[in-house]
Parts: sequence; C-alpha cells; structure tokens
Amino acid sequence: MSVHIGGKPGDIAERVLLPGDPMRAKWIAETFLEDAVCYTQVRGMLGFTGTWQGVRVSVQGSGMGMPSASIYTHELINEYGVKSVIRIGSCGALAMDLNLGDVIAAIGSATDSNMNRTRFDGLVDYAPVADFGLLRTAVDAAEAQGTPIRVGPILAADAFYTDRPDLYDSLADYGVLAVEMESAAIYTIAARYKAKALTILTVSDHIKRGEAMDSAQREQGFSNMVKIGLNTAIA
Ligand code: HPA
Repeated sequence: MSVHIGGKPGDIAERVLLPGDPMRAKWIAETFLEDAVCYTQVRGMLGFTGTWQGVRVSVQGSGMGMPSASIYTHELINEYGVKSVIRIGSCGALAMDLNLGDVIAAIGSATDSNMNRTRFDGLVDYAPVADFGLLRTAVDAAEAQGTPIRVGPILAADAFYTDRPDLYDSLADYGVLAVEMESAAIYTIAARYKAKALTILTVSDHIKRGEAMDSAQREQGFSNMVKIGLNTAIA
C-alpha cells in the first residue's frame, strides 16, 4: 500500500490508464477489461486491473487538478513500478476548427501551475512533453480504428473557472488546442522518474463557442478515446 493507493505490490500493471473520474475508471474496467479486479478504494479513488487483448492493464482514477494527479502519478511510478501512464480525459476546446467529440493527443502541455516554477526555483520554464513513442503509437492506433486524432499542445490550468478568458484567446493564437487540468504535472513527474506519459482527450465542451456535449455524445466519444488509450498501452 502507498499513502493514497490501497493495492499490494504486484496488483497494478506496468501500463496504466489514468482517467480523472474514479467512476469513469470503473466504467472502463467494466466495459472494456476482462477479469477486472478493484485494487483500491482509498478516498473513493478507484483503481482496477484486468486484461485488454490478453495484456495486463490498470485503470486508476487521478482526481481533478495537478496536485491530485501528481500524487497518483508519483505513487504509481515509484511505489508500484508503473512504466507508462496514459491520461484519458475531457477538455474544453480553444481551437475554432475543433468540434465536440474530437479526440486530441497532447504533444506538450503549457501550464499556469506554480508546481514547476517551484521545482526549478522560477529560473526555467520547463516544457512538459509527451513520450514520443506513446504518441506515435496512439496516432497509429487511432488511424487503425478509424478515429481522427489531432496532435498539438494544450493548456493544463489550475482553475476550471477562469477570470482571464483573454489569456485563453492568446493561447489559441499560439496554437494551443484545448484546456484541461492534469497533463503538465503527469508529464513532468513521468519524466522525473523515467516513465512514459501521454494525454489523450475528448473535446467535451468548446470554450469559445459555449457548446457542451450531451451524455450520449460523451459516451460514444469517450469509447473511441478509451480504445486508443488501451491499444496504445498494450503496444
Ligand atoms: N477547462 C478545464 N478543464 C476542462 C474543461 C475546461 O473547460 N472541460 C473539460 N475539462
């Protein structure tokens, strides 16, 4: 057991999907994995291990935001020997050519979080990036299953509700596709402890157009993303 995860050593696979929502972890385990077993319920942040196409995979809720996602990423890698972490989640689109349900792979993650500024004493703006091998595999997996995937940079924001929509406009001008709340920390911690990380997202809302998915759109969109994540994890 680590501080925040109740699993025993060996309970967690080397390849982990990391949705923010623990109930989505449960849904993924029940819908996609075979022989899924729940290894942790600590703080309600559910984690499951099962198999996908015969390969052991775990799905662990990370919670919302970088402090929470950092805890799970750190403990998965350092306490359970996890080698690759694939965040799957939702995002708010900034790019005007993105639509609800579109799938994004985050090549890099800009952030307004202070975590990396603290890490580097404010002297360096560290660039959190995806593992290139995982990214390439995800793009191939998406093509193989016929799901269009957009690769580009995103913003990992500390706040869901912002008082500075003007900053989102500037980021969009610089090619930032969308906003979520975890990727920069996951990429940084994976790099620090020599693991691989990738973030795959489904556009659940369009920030600039004020649109949001309904529940049927969410489930279909998320299924395509989960399959890309699972096929990337086992490759
Ligand atoms: N902002 C931040 N995170 C998100 C959003 C958003 O608009 N939508 C889904 N995750």
